[in-house]
Order: sequence, then C-alpha cells, then structure tokens
Amino acid sequence: MPDDAPEAGEPLDPLAEARDLVASAAALVRELVEEDVTGFERRPDLPAGDGQTAEAAPAPRVARPEPRDAAPASDRPAATPPTIAPAVEIGGPVPWAGRRPTLSEVETHLGDCRRCGLCEGRSKIVFGDGNPDADLLFIGEGPGADEDRRGLPFVGRAGELLTQMIEKGIGVPRSEVYICNIVKCRPPRNRTPLPPEVAACRPFLDGQIEAVRPKVIVTLGKPAASLLLDREIAITRLRGTWQDYRGIPMMPTLHPAYVLRQYTPENRRAVWEDLKAAWERSQA
Ligand code: URA
Repeated sequence: MPDDAPEAGEPLDPLAEARDLVASAAALVRELVEEDVTGFERRPDLPAGDGQTAEAAPAPRVARPEPRDAAPASDRPAATPPTIAPAVEIGGPVPWAGRRPTLSEVETHLGDCRRCGLCEGRSKIVFGDGNPDADLLFIGEGPGADEDRRGLPFVGRAGELLTQMIEKGIGVPRSEVYICNIVKCRPPRNRTPLPPEVAACRPFLDGQIEAVRPKVIVTLGKPAASLLLDREIAITRLRGTWQDYRGIPMMPTLHPAYVLRQYTPENRRAVWEDLKAAWERSQA
C-alpha cells in the first residue's frame, strides 16, 4: 500500500484528503492523455446524475486511429461496441482435459491465437507472468496499451500500482506471484471484453489456474470476479469477502486502474487489506 495511506481506524485528515483528490485528478488526466482520450459522451442507458461508480463509467472518446473496418467515432453512437469478427468455436476439449497441464503446455496450445476478433488489433499476446508455483494468483481483465506492446500483464500505470501493492504492501517480490488476465489480447480502446472473447479465452485461464494451482486467487475488479463466480457482482460490495472458485479460496478486490482513478485512502486501504488477507491465507 502506498506509504501515505492511513492505518485502519485513523481519522481522516481533510488536508490530506484534498491532496489525494488533486493527486487523483492529476493521475486521471495523465491516464487520459496517455490513452488519447479527448472527451466523454454520456451513455444513454445511464440515469441523470454523476453515473460514475465502480460498476459503470461513461465511454471515453479517443483520438487514436480507428480499428480496422470500424466507422469513425463521430459516426458511431457512444454505447455501441466496436465491430469485431465473431469468435471461432473452440473445437472440442483442451489437450490437458482431465489432468494438470504445465503453463508452457497451455501457452503452446494458445499459440498464435486467432480464436476471436481480438487477435485483429493486438500487437502481442499477453499470456501471463510470474512464478509457475505461486501461492497467489492474480487475475485482471485484459491487457492495456503498455501490456500489448510488451507482452506482459500489468506493466502500465495500473501495473505499477499493483506491483507496489504486492512488493511494499504484502512484502513479496512480484516475481513470487503469478499474474494473468481474463483475455490475453488487448480489447480495442481498453473496452470490457465481450462474452464471445471471454469464452474463447476461458480454457486458457482455467488452464493457467490448473497449472499453477495457487493456494489463493485474487480477482482484480468486477469482470474477473463476475466471471469466476458466474454471476454479475457489485465489486464495491463483494470485495474483501472470501469466495470459492472450484475449491480454491478467492479474494475479490478493486482493480488497480479503478484505485488510480479514485485514489482515496479508503480504496487504497481496502485493497491493502484484501491483499494482506489473501497473502496470509496463502501462507497458512
Ligand atoms: N488491466 C488489466 O486488467 N490487465 C492488465 O494486464 C493491465 C491493465
């Protein structure tokens, strides 16, 4: 957890809160500039009000080149996801069905994947990173721009925060844990992966979990927790509560990108507490 976060029970300092708010706003502006976001359009399905919750945020308008075959942003309604090629059905069971695979076996089977439309826009597949025998396995949503360039998960700004929380917060090197995502290719404009994309990638996520067999899984954000629990969850309510994924204890926590946007002592403390609980249970 960042050094300036208050301990549990410590009263909040209004000046420190104001400082956090300014830092949070500055971080958001930096992130938007990096992502070429030039403005926001109100989603027509959101009620009047701020609409800015952990569960729903307005769609960003970006200035980067359009994905292939997509209409220009100005011609497209804000809430319409970009058109992608339909997912290719995965033909039959995975080669490791019924036994524990190795990570390299799963990665080899993923190959130069073209099972869904996300392959069209990716630079590199982001399979996963870390200790193949990790006690703790983190699952994010999908690679962003930095991850797509480098082929490694969580190496952008959200990744820096995650790394800091792992290394300074729980006190273990990042290389000690295993980190991966629901989908292995960057969704256009960092949008949430669509169900066919998630379905196409699911055998590989499950293969990674089977290969690592972690003592504890930490899901980062709503999509990863919802996927593993097979229901739509509210992450701000569910975070910090123990869940179960096929017999493995699972700790849902906030996504570091959300914490960067809402850089409050409460959010930082929440993630810190969740990670601490996850680590302690993985070492019990
Ligand atoms: N966000 C994610 O969910 N995963 C990454 O790898 C990076 C950012």
